[in-house]
Amino acid sequence: MINAKLLQLVVNASNDGVVVAEQEGEDNILIYVNEAFERLTGYTAEEILYQDCRFLQMGDRDQSGLHLVKQAIEERRPTRQVVRNYRKDGSMFWNELSITPVFNEADQLTYFIGIQKDVTAQVKANQRAEELEAEVAALRQQLATNS
Ligand SMILES: Cc1cc2nc3c(=O)[nH]c(=O)nc-3n(C[C@H](O)[C@H](O)[C@H](O)COP(=O)(O)O)c2cc1C
Repeated sequence: MINAKLLQLVVNASNDGVVVAEQEGEDNILIYVNEAFERLTGYTAEEILYQDCRFLQMGDRDQSGLHLVKQAIEERRPTRQVVRNYRKDGSMFWNELSITPVFNEADQLTYFIGIQKDVTAQVKANQRAEELEAEVAALRQQLATNS
């Protein structure tokens, strides 16, 4: 078993955001965020500890991925969804968010671990590929009707 200090060093070295939240009423408040989360979101740990992560959504709350996240958290199931989030400076990024419940039998509490991966480049590339596919299909149709 690795010791707590080494574990913290390793988690802090991760390139993806790693957070731990504790259930408090309707909210799951952040009790730990690693350095990659601070870099990704532009917030320092002091600014956002003890808040629910929904501040990353700013006003953009009507997203199917977020509804699925809410449901999974309520049912204490793991989930992975791609959602739109916003940095402190207001810029948008696509967040592949993985959330897993952790049951601590000793204190009877439920914690959640969240991993945030910036997938903006992949989402934009997929969107561009879809646009180009649609353009090719339209051009093919034009050619077929002209011939
Ligand atoms: C550990 C953990 C990490 C989370 N990380 C994010 C996140 O990075 N971005 C986000 O938009 N929501 C995140 N959430 C989800 C929100 O905190 C919240 O649960 C979600 O918006 C659904 O609840 P609501 O409709 O009450 O806001 C996370 C939740 C947990 C438990």
